[in-house]
Amino acid sequence: MTEPRVPLFDVRLSEEEISAVAQTLRSGWLTMGPRTSSFEDDFAEHLGVRHAVAVSSCTAALHLAYLAAGVGPGDEVIVPAITFVASASAARYCGAQPVMADVVGDADLGVDPADVEARIGPRTKAVCAVHYGGYAAAVEELRALCDERGLALIEDAAHSPSARPRGSDRKLGTYGLAGCFSFFSNKVLSCGEGGLLATGDDDVAALARSRRSHAMTSSTWDRHRGHAAGYDVVDLGFNYRMDEPRAALLAARLGGLEADIESRRRLTLRYRRLLSEVPGVSTPYTDADVDTSSCYVMAVMLDEGSVREPLRRIMSERHGVQTSVLYPAVHEFTAYASDSDERLPCSEAIARRQLTLPLYPHLSDDGQDAVITSLAEGLAELAPGTEGTLAAPRAR
Ligand SMILES: Cc1ncc(COP(=O)(O)O)c(C=O)c1O
Repeated sequence: MTEPRVPLFDVRLSEEEISAVAQTLRSGWLTMGPRTSSFEDDFAEHLGVRHAVAVSSCTAALHLAYLAAGVGPGDEVIVPAITFVASASAARYCGAQPVMADVVGDADLGVDPADVEARIGPRTKAVCAVHYGGYAAAVEELRALCDERGLALIEDAAHSPSARPRGSDRKLGTYGLAGCFSFFSNKVLSCGEGGLLATGDDDVAALARSRRSHAMTSSTWDRHRGHAAGYDVVDLGFNYRMDEPRAALLAARLGGLEADIESRRRLTLRYRRLLSEVPGVSTPYTDADVDTSSCYVMAVMLDEGSVREPLRRIMSERHGVQTSVLYPAVHEFTAYASDSDERLPCSEAIARRQLTLPLYPHLSDDGQDAVITSLAEGLAELAPGTEGTLAAPRAR
C-alpha cells in the first residue's frame, strides 16, 4: 500500500518529547506513578478545574463519568447521533440505554438542545454533550436544562482539550459533572492511547480514582513507597490506569498544545477561505467560531451525498489525499439500529454528506492546496450532467 501524499492526520514528535519517554523507560517505574500524578496536576491547571484523573482512554473516562452520575441498569442517557460510538457504548457498559438525539444541522454539528429536551423521560439520568471537532456544543443551555430537570451533564470533550464556547473564558470539559478527554493518536493532544476525566466534584473524582484501579484502597506506587502495606477492594473496579511513558509524553506535549492549536486555527481559516470558492461544498461553523475551537478536524458538507464515495476515490487514487467521514450516525450502526426506529433527519443527512479533510499542525500550504485541488476537480467531474467521466480516470 502506498503512503498517501497528504494523510488525514500525522503525528510529529520533537526530540524533547521522545527523550521524556526514554527517561521514563530508564527510570524503572512504568505504571501509574509520579509522572501520571504530575500530568494530572498540569492538566487540571490548564483546564482551570479542581480534579483531573488520567485513565487509559476517553471511553474509560466516559464509563466512569456515567457511573459517577449514577447511571445504572434501566436508565437512559441522551447522546447525539453524530459522535464516535464510545459516547453511546459507555452508557451500555453501565447497563443503561443510550437514546440518540438529533444534531442542530449543517452549520452546527453539536446536539440540538430542543431535541434533547424532547427526549427527556422518567428514565433519563444523564445527557452527553459532544464538542464535535473541537467546537463547543450548546453547553451553557444544556447545563441549564440538566440543572432544571435534575440530570447530570457529561461532556465528551475528546476533541476539545483547550477550546471554549464563544464569548467565554471557561474551557470545555468544565461545564458538566465531568468532562472526558481523549489522547488517542489522532487527537489534538495525543500519546497513542489515553484519556482523562476532569471534574470539580470531589466525590466524582474519588469514584474515578478508585474505580480506575479495581477500587483498591492503595496503589502499587503507594505500596512501593511504603505508604501502604496491603489493600482492600471496596467496589467493582476496572483496570483503566494510565502508564508512566504515556503520562511523560503528554506532560511534554502539553507545553506545545496552544501553539499546535494556533496552527490548526490558521489552517482551518485558510481552508474556509479556499473552500468558499469551490462549488458543491460548504463548511459548518463560522470564522469567529474557529477562534475558540481546538480545530480537531476539518469537516465539510457536500451538497450531494451521492458523490462522496466516488469523490473520495478520486482524491485518494489520483491525488494521494486521504479523507474520512466523521461520523456515521450511531443509531444506524447494526449494534444500535434495533434500539429505536425513530428517524433523526439532520444526523442522517450529515452522515451521508459529511467529509473530513486532512488537518494537523504541520500540514503545509502546498499540502492543503493539493487537498483543495483534488476536491474541486473531483466535484467538478462528478457534478450533475457530467456522469460517465469517471469511467476513464486520468493517470498521474
Ligand atoms: C467524540 C469521541 N468520543 C470518545 C472517543 C473515544 O476516545 P478513546 O479512543 O480515547 O477511547 C473518541 C475517539 O475517537 C471520540 O472521537
